[in-house]
Amino acid sequence: MKIFIDSADINEIRELAGSGLVDGVTTNPSLAAKAGRDYVEALEEIAALVPGSVSAEVLATDYDGIVAQGRRLAKIAPNITVKVPLIWDGLKACRTLSADGTPVNVTLCFSAVQAMMAAKAGATYISPFVGRVDDVGEDGMGLVRDIRAIYDNYGFATEVLAASVRHVMHVREAALAGADIATIPPSVFKSLLNHPLTDKGLAAFLADAQKAGVKIRGT
Ligand code: E4P
Repeated sequence: MKIFIDSADINEIRELAGSGLVDGVTTNPSLAAKAGRDYVEALEEIAALVPGSVSAEVLATDYDGIVAQGRRLAKIAPNITVKVPLIWDGLKACRTLSADGTPVNVTLCFSAVQAMMAAKAGATYISPFVGRVDDVGEDGMGLVRDIRAIYDNYGFATEVLAASVRHVMHVREAALAGADIATIPPSVFKSLLNHPLTDKGLAAFLADAQKAGVKIRGT
């Protein structure tokens, strides 16, 4: 499963991209507002830093506006993916932008039927919002599983991008559900390797080696 960072903060992204384990980035208008930077300028820097897909979201909600903003965003860098909302004009624009050769991430997906329609519109990625579905007492990961099954039933190539990820269990479940990608906040990314037994085991190995004077000669 690919892992994207869900942030528009270049400093956060730079820190994590150094691990070599970041496959892409997703941003949205709320994350752009939080970053407090000019959105286009921030996207230029992020796209130059991370070689994978960088999702840049339109603000327009009408077809002409979405296409115009999408084309503008796509010019920022070759690895920009244009993110459009899952509304009729968004899917119509998805067809147009995809026909231009621009990858499109269809966002704000809350039902499997919405995801099927996005795939029919040629979406490169579909973003089911797992955490927000859980927030209203429904099964966010069940949505990912349903989308996976529908896409596999009909051979849709659209990649399932689990979004609105809140914790490490979501990452585990997304991988088990067959999501192609999980986009995760920096705090969750940093927690992915946490395990108390790893820390305890490492401390014991090092203490034993130090006590016995074990060394790696030549280093
Ligand atoms: C990313 O593509 C989504 O916009 C993001 O994951 C939404 O996350 P939130 O529900 O935590 O705002």
